[in-house]
Amino acid sequence: MSDGTRLSRPWWEPGVIYQVYPRSFQDSDGDGIGDLAGIAARLDYLSDLGIDAIWLSPIFPSPMADFGYDVADYCGIAPIFGDMAAFDALLAQVHARGMKLLLDFVPNHTSDQHPWFVESRSSRDNPKRDWYIWRDPAPGGGPPNNWTSDMGGSSWEFDPATGQYYLHAFLREQPDLNWRNPALREAMMDVLRFWFDRGVDGFRIDVLWHCVKARDFPDNPPNPDYRPGMGEKLAVLQTHSTDQPEIHDVAHAMRALADGYGERVLVGELYLPTETLVRYYGSEDAPGCHLPFNFQLIETPWDARAIARLIEAYEAALPPGGWPNWVLSNHDRPRIAARLGEAQARIAAMLLLTLRGTPTLYQGDELGIGQVAIPPDRVRDPQDLRQPGLGLGRDAFRTPMPWDGTAHAGFSSAEPWLPLNPDWPDRNVARQAADPGSILELYRRLLALRRQRASLSVGDIAVIEADEDVLQYVRRHDGERLLVALNLSSKARRLLVPAGMQLGEVLASTLPSEHSRNILAPDEGVIIRIEGE
Ligand code: GLC
Ligand code: MG
Repeated sequence: MSDGTRLSRPWWEPGVIYQVYPRSFQDSDGDGIGDLAGIAARLDYLSDLGIDAIWLSPIFPSPMADFGYDVADYCGIAPIFGDMAAFDALLAQVHARGMKLLLDFVPNHTSDQHPWFVESRSSRDNPKRDWYIWRDPAPGGGPPNNWTSDMGGSSWEFDPATGQYYLHAFLREQPDLNWRNPALREAMMDVLRFWFDRGVDGFRIDVLWHCVKARDFPDNPPNPDYRPGMGEKLAVLQTHSTDQPEIHDVAHAMRALADGYGERVLVGELYLPTETLVRYYGSEDAPGCHLPFNFQLIETPWDARAIARLIEAYEAALPPGGWPNWVLSNHDRPRIAARLGEAQARIAAMLLLTLRGTPTLYQGDELGIGQVAIPPDRVRDPQDLRQPGLGLGRDAFRTPMPWDGTAHAGFSSAEPWLPLNPDWPDRNVARQAADPGSILELYRRLLALRRQRASLSVGDIAVIEADEDVLQYVRRHDGERLLVALNLSSKARRLLVPAGMQLGEVLASTLPSEHSRNILAPDEGVIIRIEGE
């Protein structure tokens, strides 16, 4: 790296994270479900693409009620994915390619099959009783309060054996842990130590803002915007069940532990508005996550002015030293091309890879996978199965990677656990790798450019102008200035070049064709060098 200032930066600041959903990346043993050996076999694809770190969604032993987000053993590997030897081999191969590996830490809840919960529910005086959240029924009977589960229904499940309710923010098979209990806390810190000692480079922390609840469990206020059909999660506001002040002590304890291992990164899953989100960076004295996931692009309308305001508001809200990050989609949220179509998904790729901060890509978005209709008999997601008909299913965003034109798209020798994207014979890695105009090749070019030009990764950002269709900003580092201009419409638009700005070489366009310097073609985004001072 030629730029001296970059040497002192941790790898994740200029780096790009890529989320692998292990069930759907590559199957190696013919059971139709992706696995660790499959991922290992596809590492060249990821290093050629040009990413820096892989985040794996959960790979731990689990009954798979929520596809691994119901962990039955934090320090093991689910047999469908492989074993500890396969994990160690994968980690070594990732490191041998100069990449990093992040695991998914699920601290809010375990599986109801976890031995801790089996003990906890066995009697009221079991030493692990208080590792989970148990409450008596309300005075007149029924659940202790009105909290609702993200997966529908009450958050409380009655356990007849001991006559109390336990709390579950998600499925009843996912009892919530009690982070106010010091022994539980220490046991969870041991989980982090276990994986750090094995050499993992960091964690994505599942639903971090859920981990601590208000001490007295008051009712949540009703949600004034709730309408039947939205899913019961939204019946109340999660005022008392999430984002409590004490969560920041928990985040800091995790951070202090991670820092003891050197350059290890903590990425927090936090669906929160910007003002509350940025508190998860912590303070100088008590730092929290390195990267509290910024999901604002997922939640904001695709409108140039709205996105310009969002960039400015987010940048302004960052605490000193807080490094930004951006996300377009993940295994819980509709695919970007399903939302916007492929033409704008290309613009979205340029946006994500040219904003200031660490981007997280989600597998398959680089192929522009769009809508996938899941036939009723193939639905797997419990969020859909338990609240049918509300359109809450996530299977369509979790379909297997289409690698080539052979049977089952090269993903597996057997029928995959979820259907493929219907256009897989055309929309697959092999086809797109052979087509310089494909969205995959656009991603590869943008990732390479970002690696070459420090202005794109670590440079300053200034939003210079936006109307409803065109979003423009300048990235600047060490005397280099790059203009990013994105046409969010399907009409040709004039570049909004500020007076006195001299445009130089066009470094990239989202379109395969030649770019004309002053006009943005429909659905075109460009990166242009700015000449002079
Ligand atoms: C997170 C995961 C999601 C899971 C939930 C409960 O939001 O991303 O897939 O269902 O947590 O663990
Ligand atoms: Mg398999």
